Amino acid sequence: MGLAILCSGGDAPGMNAAIKKFVDYLQKRGETPYLIYDGLEGLIDGRIKKAAHEDVAGILHRGGSVIRSSRSKRFYEYAYRQQAYTNLKKHGIEGLVVLGGDGSFCAMARFCGEFPVRVVGIPTTIDNDIYGTDYALGVDTALNTIRDALDKIYDTASSFNRAFVVEVMGHQSGYLTALSAIASGAEICVIPEKEFQISLAQERLKKEISQGRRYILALVAEGTGRTEEIARWIEKSLHFETRVTILGHIQRGGVPTSYDRMMAFEFAVMAVDYLLDHPTSNVVTVFYEGQFALKKIEEVANKRAPLQQKYIAMLDRLD
Ligand code: F6P
Repeated sequence: MGLAILCSGGDAPGMNAAIKKFVDYLQKRGETPYLIYDGLEGLIDGRIKKAAHEDVAGILHRGGSVIRSSRSKRFYEYAYRQQAYTNLKKHGIEGLVVLGGDGSFCAMARFCGEFPVRVVGIPTTIDNDIYGTDYALGVDTALNTIRDALDKIYDTASSFNRAFVVEVMGHQSGYLTALSAIASGAEICVIPEKEFQISLAQERLKKEISQGRRYILALVAEGTGRTEEIARWIEKSLHFETRVTILGHIQRGGVPTSYDRMMAFEFAVMAVDYLLDHPTSNVVTVFYEGQFALKKIEEVANKRAPLQQKYIAMLDRLD
């Protein structure tokens, strides 16, 4: 059976580890792996290649995706989805493994409802906002990249009596910001999921400043759109010279951590086993409440995971 893998949406560390495991394990099971380059755009344009050992040799430890990714607007149109299906048929590909997030799973739910293709999604996004799974590939690496950046910002902030407002990625989710604030002991954490009570923060910080506080680290989730506002408020109300750092796309790159490599291994093997042994419906591999499982793609797509209450409670204790 021909099975193919592609990446869709934002790249994330761990994609290459999953691609490598997909190819190696499928070959071990005596089947033919294909690589689809440039995500759904490449699927539409027929950039499909039978995978050879050298395509995936030495990639496990590399960030990004050697087969690249894309955010495809064309895939919203039926005619292009039909073209994509024709390309799969041409190569005898019956199943697809898709590394991506919610947008990709929505696209796949529609695609496999229209054409006889089996799909397994592997949750992959640094945002960790995919419904029905507690973990998506890339999250652990991104958290460590952010921690490393914040440790360095802390060095300069504390040497200069300054405030730093650091904007963290996550699209509409405050997951990365919340966990980074907890891990780095930030003084302020502004996320979409929790009301930021400016007067309470002001009162607390003024007290701490009077007791000797000499720097402030504020983390703001990009989804709040409040980075500049928070910086101006700190300058005006707390009288700290303030600098803004937007961490940006460095959060998406880097060598995947051991945890991301292990998760990539588990997810890729599950995806291949499912496609070869029980290809009855279209599913997403998940890690939920400490267990690996498969959930129907419709159950996962088109929803967003809420930030778990336990993290909001931890933030309450950070204030
Ligand atoms: O979904 C991953 C992510 O990095 C988000 O955190 C961010 O909002 C978005 O992608 C950025 O997208 P792009 O790379 O297309 O600018």
